[in-house]
Amino acid sequence: MERTFIAIKPDGVQRGLISEIIARFERKGFKLVAIKIVVPSKGFAQKHYHDLKERPFFNGLCDFLSSGPVVAMVWEGEGVIKYGRKFIGATDPQKSEPGTIRGDLAVVVGRNIIHGSDGPETAKDEINLWFKPEELVAYTSNAEKWIYGVN
Ligand code: GTP
Ligand code: MG
Repeated sequence: MERTFIAIKPDGVQRGLISEIIARFERKGFKLVAIKIVVPSKGFAQKHYHDLKERPFFNGLCDFLSSGPVVAMVWEGEGVIKYGRKFIGATDPQKSEPGTIRGDLAVVVGRNIIHGSDGPETAKDEINLWFKPEELVAYTSNAEKWIYGVN
């Protein structure tokens, strides 16, 4: 089953939005298979955002991600990568639709509270960067037959 990496950034943690964000993914029917709270080093943040290293905001972004606790998670479900991004909303909360996490809960691009992998390759790389294989828990939830309608 498809998996994606989701992180609640330091602003989301400090604003008390951990439970709100987890609840949205959980209520949708996605399955939490890994979770931890960590303060990433600046070097780790640079690795996570390596694709953006030429952008003018890169240094500030990495300072910010390493400025406090981050809740790192792996969520599993059909279409979770693409749908997770839709659910999170556009990068700039001023452009995110109401009903999305950023649209409802954030105001500016530099403090948009949550990260989600943008494709299958980045999901794989980010899960490997943030988690050891043994930190991922494979299990069947009783709700799955009701979510997916398997016989
Ligand atoms: P992530 O899920 O965090 O990766 O966001 P994204 O995939 O929607 O956007 P992208 O990967 O392009 O940018 C990563 C992060 O950099 C964003 O979430 C923003 O916090 C920040 N960012 C992107 N564009 C800007 C910008 O123009 N200005 C500032 N200050 N930050 C930006
Ligand atoms: Mg991104």
